[in-house]
Amino acid sequence: MENRITEKIARLKTEKDAVILAHYYVPAEVQDIADYVGDSYALAKIATAAPQKVICFAGVSFMGESAKVLNPDKTVLMPDITADCPMAHMVTPQEILDMRTKYDDLAVVCYINSMAEIKQYADVCVTSSNAVKIVSALPQKNIFFIPDRNLGQFLAAKMPEKNFILNQGHCPIHVRIKEEHILKAKADHPGIKVLAHPECTPEVLQHADYIGSTAGIIDFATASADTEFIIATETGVFYELEKRNPGTKFYPVMDQQLCEGMKKVTLEKIVAALENMEPVMELSADEIQKSKAPLQKMLELAK
Ligand code: 13P
Ligand code: SF4
Repeated sequence: MENRITEKIARLKTEKDAVILAHYYVPAEVQDIADYVGDSYALAKIATAAPQKVICFAGVSFMGESAKVLNPDKTVLMPDITADCPMAHMVTPQEILDMRTKYDDLAVVCYINSMAEIKQYADVCVTSSNAVKIVSALPQKNIFFIPDRNLGQFLAAKMPEKNFILNQGHCPIHVRIKEEHILKAKADHPGIKVLAHPECTPEVLQHADYIGSTAGIIDFATASADTEFIIATETGVFYELEKRNPGTKFYPVMDQQLCEGMKKVTLEKIVAALENMEPVMELSADEIQKSKAPLQKMLELAK
């Protein structure tokens, strides 16, 4: 059955001149049929370089929006248009405008996990894999970091010369992982390194041996001689971790490390999207124009 769907997707991709981009958190069978699987930074970059007319984005809404903003002339298909990231809505334009009146010498730094309507008020976007490089290169002393308070706090600790103003956004999935879960996992697997995503809380991150993006976690484990790891991020990464490291054991911290939005993307929905050429990511010309600058600045500064 799965084989037939896979063949159908391959045929539709050629017919429609489509490329399929997938995030590491989508189900394994979707990662398998994708042309590219990556973290949010890699996928944003690939989206700008893909020659195909159609981008089918196996991910959540802010990822499809970024692909559309960076490629306004392309059709961006979202296999499930309701696949969303709650954190991407956790700051308002008004909060940003208020902060701009309060502080001089302020840069508004927007995590890519945010909607275009928010990005348009920011100076620059970042992802977890390029945030340190980008924020440390900014001339401004005051940094309003939106929407993720945990990534913001992680960055603030690395840059004591800057004044970080944090927002209360957070990833509901990563904050499910509590310090007690990490302590239990470490007790269950003594001496094993903990690899964590910076969306985890500081209480969890203090126990991590490596903190990085999904691609960073995968690369760290792959380069290491260790054969067991505790993984503090969404369990979709286990598929690539296990593929690249056969024989290595990867343990989740607890049993709820699942992003419901990412798991909405299925093979059947990809077939339907390619057949019907919908649902399509739509953004107004104004939203595209205004949210492009911070995304493009990210791509330039991250080089
Ligand atoms: P990455 O930038 O590591 O892909 O993370 C995206 C994300 O949504 C993490 O929850
Ligand atoms: Fe958003 Fe969290 Fe899902 Fe990442 S894991 S897409 S931050 S809800």
